Amino acid sequence: MKAYEKLLTENKAWANEQVRTDPEFFTRLSDLQTPDFLWIGCSDSRVPADKITGTQPGEIFVHRNIANLVVNTDINLLSVLQYAVEVLKVKHVIVCGHYGCGGIRAAMTQHHFGIINHWLKNIKDIYRLHREEVDDLPSEEERVNRLTELNVQEQIFNLAKTSIIQKAWKEEKRPHLHGWVYGLNDGIIKPVCEMNAGSHIDPLYEYDNL
Ligand code: CO
Repeated sequence: MKAYEKLLTENKAWANEQVRTDPEFFTRLSDLQTPDFLWIGCSDSRVPADKITGTQPGEIFVHRNIANLVVNTDINLLSVLQYAVEVLKVKHVIVCGHYGCGGIRAAMTQHHFGIINHWLKNIKDIYRLHREEVDDLPSEEERVNRLTELNVQEQIFNLAKTSIIQKAWKEEKRPHLHGWVYGLNDGIIKPVCEMNAGSHIDPLYEYDNL
């Protein structure tokens, strides 16, 4: 059996099992989705959003990219964010990074990796902001891990800077923003920062006519 065929076989087994334990499962879910959470995570195959949070289909809306970045020119991310906030009306947006992130590690080197360097430059900018704190740490692993946490924090700020989030905060007192980091070593998620709806942001980024 070819490697990819296993996926289709496993899919059939999974679908049968779902129906066996919950006959209404697919009928219920095909009608609507009402997730409370938007998850912005890393594309890394070792960090599956639903598995590590024990959530079921229909419970979290997911966007993943390399190193879980919120880039204000990324029409893909912004479309996901707008849909999640304005249509699905999620209550929480979670940015979840992970220790040992290859994207973070790569951004800390001087190596040119090709087109991905345009993406990684966003992380280099965060490193530059926190250069002293990060470079003070004794080992490479600690420096990568600290930048992973600072990156998540910066992405939470980036979310708060969007008109989508500011409008929802003003009109509906949601969503709350959460910055988390997942440990590949132990499977545990560490909360590193949060911004509740209506949190103070630098007035420079605050729209006064929403
Ligand atoms: Co990663």
